[in-house]
Amino acid sequence: TPKKPPRKTGESSFLANARLYGHGITASYGEMCYHDNSLVSASLEALIQHLVPTVDYYPDIRFREVAPKLVQLLTEWTETFPYDFRDERMMRCLKDMTHHVARGDEYSWRAMQQMTQRLIKRLSALGQYEEAVAALNTVAMERPASLKSKQASGQRSDVLSVCDDPFVLAQQLTHIELDRLSFIGPEEFIQTFAMKDPLENHKGFFRKRKTSNLEAYVSWFNRLSYLVATEICMPVKKKHRARIIEFFIDVAQECFNIGNFNSLMAIITGMNMSPVARLKKTWSKVNTDKFEILEHQMDPSSNFSNYRTALRGATQRSETAHSSQEKIVIPFFSLLIKDIYFLNEGCASRLPNGHINFEKLWELAKQVSEFLVWRQVICPFDRDRRILQYLVTTPIFSEDELHLASYESEGPENNMEKDSRRSLSCSSLLSNVNI
Ligand SMILES: *[C@@H]1O[C@H](CO)[C@@H](O)[C@H](O)[C@H]1NC(C)=O
Repeated sequence: TPKKPPRKTGESSFLANARLYGHGITASYGEMCYHDNSLVSASLEALIQHLVPTVDYYPDIRFREVAPKLVQLLTEWTETFPYDFRDERMMRCLKDMTHHVARGDEYSWRAMQQMTQRLIKRLSALGQYEEAVAALNTVAMERPASLKSKQASGQRSDVLSVCDDPFVLAQQLTHIELDRLSFIGPEEFIQTFAMKDPLENHKGFFRKRKTSNLEAYVSWFNRLSYLVATEICMPVKKKHRARIIEFFIDVAQECFNIGNFNSLMAIITGMNMSPVARLKKTWSKVNTDKFEILEHQMDPSSNFSNYRTALRGATQRSETAHSSQEKIVIPFFSLLIKDIYFLNEGCASRLPNGHINFEKLWELAKQVSEFLVWRQVICPFDRDRRILQYLVTTPIFSEDELHLASYESEGPENNMEKDSRRSLSCSSLLSNVNI
């Protein structure tokens, strides 16, 4: 926390501007403003000046202590924002610094070596992850012809033949969530929005984005929703479809108990897609009590207040956890992004006087830091490779294919649905013609 600066010799108006509000003291020291001793805003120049030693001013460090402090700063940087160092210019800077810091200081040199090794390990893990995601997407895109029509889809195994225990399936979903969460860098939240702003775009060292882990995670959510809908729409028999709906309700319930709100929401989204929701005869065979409770938990009204309460509960459980299972908190990610987006948009990062708006940045940092704690949890469950493989690669229906499969299960009920099926059948026929 940047605190009130020490008095600089030769500075005549030490307390240049202090005011008493109803509560707390607001004070300015040149270009830095404080409220109750916490920095509220400052100009970039003043912040830099505050950190740079001059002939008659040391920023509360002794000069011989600079090397360990520098190592500490770089360690913090490389551990919190390792992806910044995907840029070879940054790596070169780091090497240069190692060289300087190391001069005559064995301890700092060793610390820099270890830090660099950890960094390289993180970056190569990222590279492997990106390759794995790309490979999985390719497999999932290779859609066998069998999926094109429902009658022939008997060859595709369904979820129950791979796993019929809702708790085990929820555990495997949690593995996928935590794997993918762990690669999202804190900077990606802000970069995702900032890159859309052309004014921010033209300048700066970190102009080009180096990662897209956030997008990869969001597409996993979409995949899971479509997978749930596909599994429900595919079976020919009503009884079978009803069993799959009940199975996914149980999986969603287990996700809720685990604290995996993202999979929970993806499953609910899949169930509410219109090709699934319209299967009235199927739903009439399902006991929906549990599902209604879960939907109520994730109800968007009052700004998702039920969900936010449940999330707070899970967060508290996590903070006082006795087992790694109790530590798990996987937020409904789209909402987290939305909150951060509006926080970022709702307030300027620079005040009209050009100062950096520290208060806003603290608030952003608070939200992103909370996420960083959740991201760190190691998933305690046993991995089941066969189930995991199925979840991430088994082919899924597109939106049109879902509708067609749904009409095959339960025919159109009105003219609108009849028209819809007719036009879908036509375009599906056309897309199957090999030219
Ligand atoms: C919804 O709640 C979040 C978290 O409390 C808050 O940051 C956000 O501003 C709220 N949004 C609206 C539209 O009230």
